[in-house]
Amino acid sequence: MSIKVKIKQDVRNEATRMESNNSTKLGDAEVEKKKLIEFKNVTKEYQLGDVTIKALDGVDFSIYEGEFVVILGASGAGKSTILNILGGMDVVSSGEVIVHGNNITQYNENKLTTFRAEDVGFVFQFYNLIPNLTALENVEFASEVCKNHLDANDILDKVGLSERLNNFPSQLSGGEQQRVAIARAVTKNPLLLLCDEPTGALDYKTSKSVLKLLQDVNEETKKCIVLITHNAAIAPIADRVIKVKSGKIEEITTNDVKQSIEGIEW
Ligand SMILES: Nc1ncnc2c1ncn2[C@@H]1O[C@H](COP(=O)(O)OP(=O)(O)OP(=O)(O)O)[C@@H](O)[C@H]1O
Ligand SMILES: [Mg+2]
Repeated sequence: MSIKVKIKQDVRNEATRMESNNSTKLGDAEVEKKKLIEFKNVTKEYQLGDVTIKALDGVDFSIYEGEFVVILGASGAGKSTILNILGGMDVVSSGEVIVHGNNITQYNENKLTTFRAEDVGFVFQFYNLIPNLTALENVEFASEVCKNHLDANDILDKVGLSERLNNFPSQLSGGEQQRVAIARAVTKNPLLLLCDEPTGALDYKTSKSVLKLLQDVNEETKKCIVLITHNAAIAPIADRVIKVKSGKIEEITTNDVKQSIEGIEW
């Protein structure tokens, strides 16, 4: 049974100010963990004619190395905006985003391109595979540019697709295509894996197997995974849950004991 420790955002902000040198004084569970990601008072505004849309309105949070973090929130809350900024696909209106000690909000286009290519693995709801490349080619193509990439065959084997290497995306089921997309992200051997509603287009059973795969990747590689979902039921699989509401952090919850997705029903 997991024990949840609820940390109000104002307490979190105060604690963030107390933190120094990558160590935290938040509690036993987080002591000695190294900070991998930090959002500092991040805002994002979109201008549509005369209307200003505040997608993010003063967002602060930290994510630690090796964590599996779930971002929860209603449609339009700002979840994808957070992930896109974190992955270097969108830029802040104000505030700072620190990844592995680097302030990515100060990166120029070239540095951002390298950051996206080498440090971030993305998994999207609709897989985004290249239709005229095979499963193996899709994985190899994305990882070729990465210095420390892993072996595409090995990773496709790990995600259970060693028999389907030469199939094109159209010859694979949705779940299998998502496994290729996860393999593509993992093979890059990035600093972080960012998943935006990775099970949004999948049925219940396939969703569970994809989430199990992501849990296994997190356990085995100790890669930090940030996963967006609408589904509050899967929050117990995370180390921490960041709830977003109307462009603000509503609450950050710590699961002292993570649950396996296999034991969760919804
Ligand atoms: N390029 C854009 N131009 C204008 N408004 C945008 C743009 N991108 C996002 N927004 C707005 O910013 C707000 C946050 O959007 P975001 O996509 O982050 O929400 P979300 O939490 O991911 O929602 P969903 O669960 O539906 O994917 C929304 O009001 C959205 O309409
Ligand atoms: Mg979204």
